Amino acid sequence: MDEGFVSIIDEKELQEGKMKLVRVEGKTVLLIRQAGKIYAIDDRCPHMGCKFSGGTLDGNVVICPCHDWRFNLETGEYENSPSYVLTMYPFKVEAGKIWVKIEEDDL
Ligand code: FES
Repeated sequence: MDEGFVSIIDEKELQEGKMKLVRVEGKTVLLIRQAGKIYAIDDRCPHMGCKFSGGTLDGNVVICPCHDWRFNLETGEYENSPSYVLTMYPFKVEAGKIWVKIEEDDL
């Protein structure tokens, strides 16, 4: 069993310092590699739904393009108000691929 994980891209397709948008089971997952770490987040900002894929990265922070809110990729929290949290998806790297798990509740 793959425990619900879906293979989405080859790991080498995600370059350092870059974002890559992938559609998985009806969701838009934004993959990010920063300082050698991989993150898998929902592309929609929890503020008003803008797309992080049009934003920028600053260390382990992703900055939404609409209102410049800064979200910590380690915790998912908006720096100025941690009650706003972006959605982070479970993922794994296996057999040279990145696998993501979309929970039932996320659909
Ligand atoms: S929609 Fe992202 S900061 Fe407002």
